Amino acid sequence: MKKKDFNLFPVLDFVLKDEKEKLLNQKGIAIWMTGLSGSGKTTIAKEIEKKLYSKGFITQVLDGDNIRKGISKNLNFTNEDRAENIRRVAEISKLFINCGIITINSFISPTNSIREKAKTLIGEENFIEVYINAPIETCEKRDVKGLYEKARKGNLNNFTGISSIFESPKNPDIEVNTTELSINESVEKVLNYILPIIKKK
Ligand code: ADX
Repeated sequence: MKKKDFNLFPVLDFVLKDEKEKLLNQKGIAIWMTGLSGSGKTTIAKEIEKKLYSKGFITQVLDGDNIRKGISKNLNFTNEDRAENIRRVAEISKLFINCGIITINSFISPTNSIREKAKTLIGEENFIEVYINAPIETCEKRDVKGLYEKARKGNLNNFTGISSIFESPKNPDIEVNTTELSINESVEKVLNYILPIIKKK
C-alpha cells in the first residue's frame, strides 16, 4: 500500500452505534442500579440478564465481582475511590453501549453527585436509574456477606450506611422496594420499563 492510500480510510469512519444496534436489533443503554450493600442489586441484575437473554437481548453485567477484582482492584472505599470506581465503570459501560450492548450496572454508587457524573459520562438518553430500595435495618439483617457485623464491630472502615454516606436518589426512573416485592416482581418491574426502550422494532 502506498503511503497516500492511508487517506482513503479517515480515522473517523467507525461503524456507528446506530448501525451496530441495527445488527443486534436492540438499543444499547445502561440500566444503572444503585442501593445499599445487601439491598438486592446484584441478584436482580443477574435475573434481568437471564430474562433479557431468553428474549434475545445481549447484555453485560458490571458489578463488584468483575470490576473491583479487576480494573478497580487498586481502589478502596473512600469517597474519592468510589468516585473513581464509578468513573471507570461509566467509561466501560459507554464502550459497551456504543456497541449496542445493554449494560446492567450494579454498584452502591452512594451519592447524587457520583450518579450524576455517571449519567453525564454515559449520556442522559442512555441512562436508566434504578433505585433498589431496602431499609438499612433489612440489609443489616440479611447481612449476606457478614460485612455489616464487621462494620458495627469497627473492623471495616467507611462502610456504606454505617460510617459512610448513602443518599437516596431524588428522582430515579424506577424504584424497586425489595422488602415489598419478590425477586420476580422486582425483575418484572424493571423489565416492563426497559423492554419498550431497548426493542428496535
Ligand atoms: S461503590 O461505592 O464504589 O459503588 P461498589 O458497589 O463498587 O461500591 O462495592 C460495594 C461492595 O463492596 C459491597 O456490596 C460489599 O460487598 C463490598 N464492600 C467492602 N467494603 C465496603 C465498604 N466499606 N462499603 C461498602 N461496601 C463495601
